[in-house]
Amino acid sequence: MSDITKTPKLYLAPMAGVTDSAFRQVCRSLGADYVVGEMISAKALTYGDKKTALLAAFMDCERPVILQIFGNDHGIMAEGAKILCENFSPDGIDINMGCPVPKITKNGEGSALLDKPELIEKIVRAVKSAVDVPVSVKLRLGRTPSKLLAIAAALAAKSAGADFICVHGRFASQMYAPPVYPELIREVKTALGEDYPLIANGDVVDAESALRLAGITGCDRLMIGRASLGRPWIFGEIKAAFAGEKFTCPDIGETMALHARLAFESKPEKVAVNELRKHIAAYVKGFKGAAALRDRVNRTETKEELFALIDGISRMF
Ligand SMILES: Cc1cc2nc3c(=O)[nH]c(=O)nc-3n(C[C@H](O)[C@H](O)[C@H](O)COP(=O)(O)O)c2cc1C
Repeated sequence: MSDITKTPKLYLAPMAGVTDSAFRQVCRSLGADYVVGEMISAKALTYGDKKTALLAAFMDCERPVILQIFGNDHGIMAEGAKILCENFSPDGIDINMGCPVPKITKNGEGSALLDKPELIEKIVRAVKSAVDVPVSVKLRLGRTPSKLLAIAAALAAKSAGADFICVHGRFASQMYAPPVYPELIREVKTALGEDYPLIANGDVVDAESALRLAGITGCDRLMIGRASLGRPWIFGEIKAAFAGEKFTCPDIGETMALHARLAFESKPEKVAVNELRKHIAAYVKGFKGAAALRDRVNRTETKEELFALIDGISRMF
C-alpha cells in the first residue's frame, strides 16, 4: 500500500538529448533514487549501430540505472533489450509508450502503441522473456483527451508481466502543454491495484507539487523531468522537504563544473560543448544577466572556453 507520508522514491525521467551519463551522475549524486537514460531505438540496436549503443553506456555510480527502448515490433524489442542487457547490464529495461513526436508515432512507436493493448502485451511478454532484469513501461494517458487509454494499456502491460509502470499524466496531443491530470493517474492506480508499483509523472517542480501529485495519485514513486534541468538538486530538495529537514542548495558553480567535467570524460569535446550549452543556460536561468550569459554560452567552442565561462559565472554568486 502506498504511504504518501513517506518520502517518495524519486526517478530522473528519460529525456532524449538531456539525460546522458554526465547528467544522470549529477542527479544521482544530488538525490535521485533511480535514473533513466535517453530513449534508444531497438531496431538500431539490432543493426549494431555504434552511435545508438553509445547512448546506453553508463558508469557504475549511476546505478540503479534503467535503459529505455522504443519500437513497435515485439521480436525486435526483445532483441534490443537483450543486446542492452548483455552489453551494459542495466538494472532495468523500460519500454517507451509515451513519445508523442510524429517522427516516432508515424512508425507506430511511442504513444502510437497506447490504443493497441494486444500489441503492448506481446511486446512486454517478449521483452520479459528476453531479459533477467525488471521490465517497466512508460505511458501517457492516451492519444487525445477524448479517450483515456492508459487503463487498458497498463492492464495489458501488467498482465504480460511488467514489473512496474510509469504514467505521464498528459495525453500525447498535448505534447508538454498543461494541464497534467493527476486524477486520471489515480484511476490507473486503482485499476492496477493499490499494491502494484506505479510511478506518477508530470509537472513536479518543487516539494509542494511533489506532495500534491503523490497525494492525488496515491503514488509513492514520482518521476521528474524538465524541472531537473539546471536544478539537479531538486531531488534532494524534495526529499528534505518530505523529511522536514532544512535543505542546503549545493554550490551552483561547483555543480556546473562537475557536470562539465563528467561530460568531457564521456564525450568528444565538440559534442560535450554543444550539449553542455543547454545545461549551462538552464543553470543560469532567472539570474541577472542570464540572456547575455546564454549568448556567451552559445558562442563557446572549446573545453577551455566553457570552463572559463563557468568560472566567471561562479564568481557571480
Ligand atoms: C527534452 C525532452 C526529452 C524527452 N525524452 C523522452 C524520452 O526519451 N523517453 C520518454 O519516455 N520520455 C521522454 N520525455 C518525457 C519525460 O520523460 C517526461 O515524461 C515529461 O517531460 C513530463 O515530466 P516533467 O513534467 O517532469 O518534465 C522527454 C521530455 C523532454 C522535455
